[in-house]
Amino acid sequence: MWVSGAQCGARISARLSRGLFHNSGRRRPAFTNYSASAKSSWVRALVYGHHGDPAKVIELKNQELAAVGGSDVHVKMLAAPINPSDINMIQGNYGLLPKLPAVGGNEGVGQVVAVGSNVTGVKPGDWVIPANAGLGTWRTEAVFSEEALIGVPSDIPLQSAATLGVNPCTAYRMLMDFEQLRPGDFVIQNASNSGVGQAVIQIAAALGLRTINVVRDRPDIQKLTDRLKNLGADHVVTEEELRKHEMKNLYKDAPQPRLALNCVGGKSSIELLRHLAPGGTMVTYGGMAKQPITASVSMLIFKDLKLRGFWLSQWKKNHSSDQFKDLILTLCDLIHRGQLTAPACSEVPLQDYQHALEDCMKPFVSSKQILTM
Ligand SMILES: NC(=O)c1ccc[n+]([C@@H]2O[C@H](COP(=O)([O-])OP(=O)(O)OC[C@H]3O[C@@H](n4cnc5c(N)ncnc54)[C@H](OP(=O)(O)O)[C@@H]3O)[C@@H](O)[C@H]2O)c1
Repeated sequence: MWVSGAQCGARISARLSRGLFHNSGRRRPAFTNYSASAKSSWVRALVYGHHGDPAKVIELKNQELAAVGGSDVHVKMLAAPINPSDINMIQGNYGLLPKLPAVGGNEGVGQVVAVGSNVTGVKPGDWVIPANAGLGTWRTEAVFSEEALIGVPSDIPLQSAATLGVNPCTAYRMLMDFEQLRPGDFVIQNASNSGVGQAVIQIAAALGLRTINVVRDRPDIQKLTDRLKNLGADHVVTEEELRKHEMKNLYKDAPQPRLALNCVGGKSSIELLRHLAPGGTMVTYGGMAKQPITASVSMLIFKDLKLRGFWLSQWKKNHSSDQFKDLILTLCDLIHRGQLTAPACSEVPLQDYQHALEDCMKPFVSSKQILTM
């Protein structure tokens, strides 16, 4: 739930200052247990005071670390991705908007440095991820309330932990909640090389489902195709190939998909609808093309296709925090079994955030920018 007047779950000092933080080296957290900390220290954070172009409004600033209260957890952030929703939030185009100034980043993993006397769920040394969007993960350290965090096993790869809380959860819920699928069934999706798309491929494969994965054409398409097939993709096709008549051959030995996952909108989503079986569902969870979805009247009348939407933040509001923790545990189980890996990532030190922001806005990058602290 968004907390008015402060970034969700974070205890932020009112003082924002530049040029006061001199220790730019990587620091190991020193673990402490304490009921309150009077010691003042400075941390670095990517902050925005206005909505707008991330490259223009985001600044690296120093913030005073708040004292650790009884129900608080002092966290040293380890890694945090730059996701499209982070960009949309900074631009002011997202369903949840923080009170400004705000620290960017909704996802990431940190290590607990110290806990307040009332904290029971995590201890120093544990890894934690945000329980909800809006935590502000692009910073070196922070003091959060315990309820804003969820513990995750620290024996999973760092990049998996940093990218666990949003995209794999979205992929899993969309595969489970809209159509009753059986092993061998097809699922079709676009933007299949996105973080969500890569999680869909792997989770679907773990469930015995087959995937038709649509991507935009690019010079190194074979490399991308090979990469997605290594993850478990059954078919990888370009948007242009999807329009060809021969695509119908895919359904000689299996029924058409009853579930389509739409990250793009516009023409790409019309093609997904064309491939759906009568009565099937297209779930829209992203709008990367920034174009509306149009469905022909016959698709609705004669094929009775269902158009649905999914938003993880809404799913969390409709479910208990224990249900979200169960979802995280299920995904960690897949990670431990080697059935779910992190998306292709490029690690970028926090201070090089401008390059990372530029790269994540470019087309055909196929690599998620992960800020390391
Ligand atoms: N509803 C939810 O709960 C929920 C949860 C998680 C994510 N999302 C949304 O899912 C989407 C993907 O997130 P992500 O973190 O997986 O993204 P990501 O890893 O950054 O990948 C972005 C994807 O979008 C594609 N893309 C970019 N611009 C495009 C355009 N103009 N037309 C078609 N495709 C385009 C990219 O393809 P190229 O390689 O071809 O550029 C890439 O496949 C975002 O919209 C995000 O907000 C929603």
